[in-house]
Amino acid sequence: MLQIGPHIIHSPLLLAPMAGVADLPFRRLCRGFGAGMAVTEMLTADTSKWGTQKSRLRLPVLDEAEPRVVQIAGAQPHQLAEAAQRSADLGAQIVDINMGCPAKKVCKRAAGSALLREEALVAEILKTVVAAVDIPVTLKIRTGWDLQSRNALTIARLAEDAGIQALTIHGRTRACLFNGEAEYDTIAEVVAGVDIPVIANGDIDSPERAKAVLAHTGAAALMIGRAAQGQPWLFRQINACLNNETPPIPTRREVAELMLEHVTAMHGHYGEGMGVRIARKHVAWYLQKLQIERACRRAFNQLLDAQQQLEFISELLITNNNNQEVAA
Ligand SMILES: Cc1cc2nc3c(=O)[nH]c(=O)nc-3n(C[C@H](O)[C@H](O)[C@H](O)COP(=O)(O)O)c2cc1C
Repeated sequence: MLQIGPHIIHSPLLLAPMAGVADLPFRRLCRGFGAGMAVTEMLTADTSKWGTQKSRLRLPVLDEAEPRVVQIAGAQPHQLAEAAQRSADLGAQIVDINMGCPAKKVCKRAAGSALLREEALVAEILKTVVAAVDIPVTLKIRTGWDLQSRNALTIARLAEDAGIQALTIHGRTRACLFNGEAEYDTIAEVVAGVDIPVIANGDIDSPERAKAVLAHTGAAALMIGRAAQGQPWLFRQINACLNNETPPIPTRREVAELMLEHVTAMHGHYGEGMGVRIARKHVAWYLQKLQIERACRRAFNQLLDAQQQLEFISELLITNNNNQEVAA
């Protein structure tokens, strides 16, 4: 069982932080389907920007399921420490530091995964942040900068020495971006080399893969990102399989009801204008999983208000309802 500081995480499946995807409505859904923890989208460590609409929407809310985990990204130790303190003041119960993001915008400023090249700076950041807060600090990394410098084990040891309480590793290097397949050998090596809990991440998209990655790496938990898009019930399915139970597969009607709940929550979280725009990508993922033709997704994208979006989903999937199961 995964334990991070005082927090016992009851499911070994965690939702990955995904900017633009793992917002509060999506985190709530995934927690409802059995994700043991759901990390916020990354927040810049520059707290002077936290007043912007983008950042405000990412700040923790107190009625989110515990433990509330806020992820921060930056490169300056004191700035990250201040961001961690502010996060804790706002209700974060765990702070996660992002050293895994390959995005150019983040890397140009030597934040995200670019930091993996600067081991001394990593150590300084981790020590400074851990010393600044009373809540557990966790770290998310890739396996290294590129295939020639896979230094995950070195970083993991630095992290352990600095007091980091759990480490997530995405099984790709920074240079890999999202190409190729994730590899889990490096993760297994880190699990064997440190005593803090290690969370394996990358391409976990089915119960079979989840079982295989747990067995191969010995990780304390798994983190799932893209595979949960359009099918948050994946957490329920994988958890059932890990417990040797038959996974319940939702019917189209259940998915439709879930979509209505999700889309309504997005309208509420972002306000109608932005909510309608953000709902489009999530609905496209659901429709893709339901194998509904592209023309239908395009038609949904033309809709301009909240009511139209909800009616469209109801008509498509509930009025013409069938109780067919969604393909597993
Ligand atoms: C759209 C998107 C946004 C992401 N945003 C973040 C982020 O804010 N912080 C972070 O640490 N990783 C971020 N990631 C990386 C994921 O957390 C995860 O490590 C990666 O997607 C691999 O896991 P997966 O194969 O299960 O998706 C993002 C990934 C995607 C696809």
